[in-house]
Amino acid sequence: MIFYFSGTGNTKWAAARLAAATHEDLISIAPYMRADDSSHNIAEPFILKENERLGFVFPVHGWRVPRLVREFIRKMKITSDATTEGNKKMVRKHPFAYCVCTAGDSIGLTIENLNDTIALNASLQALGITEVSASYSLIMPESYVGLPFMDVDPKEREVRKKSKSAQELAVICEEIFDRKEGVNRLVKGPIPWFFTKVVGGFFENVLITDKRFHVEKDKCVKCGICANVCPVGDIKGGHGEYPEWLHHKDCLTCFTCYHHCPHHAIEFGNQTQKKGQYFYK
Ligand SMILES: Cc1cc2nc3c(=O)[nH]c(=O)nc-3n(C[C@H](O)[C@H](O)[C@H](O)COP(=O)(O)O)c2cc1C
Ligand code: SF4
Ligand code: SF4
Repeated sequence: MIFYFSGTGNTKWAAARLAAATHEDLISIAPYMRADDSSHNIAEPFILKENERLGFVFPVHGWRVPRLVREFIRKMKITSDATTEGNKKMVRKHPFAYCVCTAGDSIGLTIENLNDTIALNASLQALGITEVSASYSLIMPESYVGLPFMDVDPKEREVRKKSKSAQELAVICEEIFDRKEGVNRLVKGPIPWFFTKVVGGFFENVLITDKRFHVEKDKCVKCGICANVCPVGDIKGGHGEYPEWLHHKDCLTCFTCYHHCPHHAIEFGNQTQKKGQYFYK
C-alpha cells in the first residue's frame, strides 16, 4: 500500500513506478483531506494485507513533510487483515514501512519529521510501525517559484535530474521489493536541523498561503485547468470562469495551478512574472 501526494507530478511518477514494482495499491492522499469529497472517508480504516509493504511517498516542502501529508498520517487509521484463531485476533506485527521523498535539492530532517508524525498515530503503533525502516530522497526538477531567488530548473538540468532519478528509482524499487531495512539514502544538504526547524518553520508559517495568488485577466482564457488540477479544491472556477482562490487554508503553495496554466496567467505576488513553468510530463 503506497500513500502518496504530488503537486506537479514528480512524486506521482515515482509512486507509480513503486506501485508497479511492488504490485501494491497506490492511494492518493489529497482526496481524503478534502472537505468537498464525501467518497473518501479518512475515518474508515485502511487494511494492510498480509506481507504488504507500507510506503509514504511525497515531495519535500520547506525541508519538511508537507502539512497536508502530516495531517493525513496523524489522522489515518490502519489495521492489518488479521487472521482469527478461535476468538483470538492474531495481529501481524511490524510490516515493512518505507519512505521515498522527492525534492529539488535537499531534504534536511524531513525523515525525522515524518517519523515524529508516525509516532503520533496509535493505529500505526499498534501494527508495530514506530518509524520507517528505509528512506530515500530523489532529486527531481524544482517546482518552487515563490521567492525571488527560486525558479524552475533550466531545461538541461531538468533533463539531467529526471534521467539520474530514473536510474536511482530503479535501484530503490528493487530494494523496496526486497524489503531492505536500514537504508537511508538521503540528500540532507547543509545544516539540516537549521533548514528543517528554523527556515522550515518560517516557510510553513509565512510563505504557505494562497493569499498572494491572483490571475492576470488579460491573459486568462477561462479554460478551467487551474481549478481542475488543484489537489485540495482551493480554486473556484471552471470552464468559462475566472479562477478565484477560496482561502480555505488547505493551499500548500504547491504551484500546480501556476505551472499548469497554458497562458502563464497566474501570479504569486510579484514573484512569478518572469519565472518558468514546469510539471512532470
Ligand atoms: C512549497 C514547496 C516547497 C518546497 N521545498 C523544498 C525543499 O525544502 N527542498 C527541496 O529540495 N525542494 C523543495 N521543493 C521542490 C519540490 O520538493 C520538488 O520539486 C518535488 O519533486 C515536487 O514534487 P511534485 O512534483 O510531486 O509536487 C519545494 C516545492 C514546493 C512547491
Ligand atoms: S489555467 Fe490559466 S487560463 Fe485557464 S482559467 Fe486558470 S488562469 Fe485562466
Ligand atoms: S491553489 Fe494552487 S498552489 Fe494552492 S494547493 Fe491549489 S494548486 Fe496548489
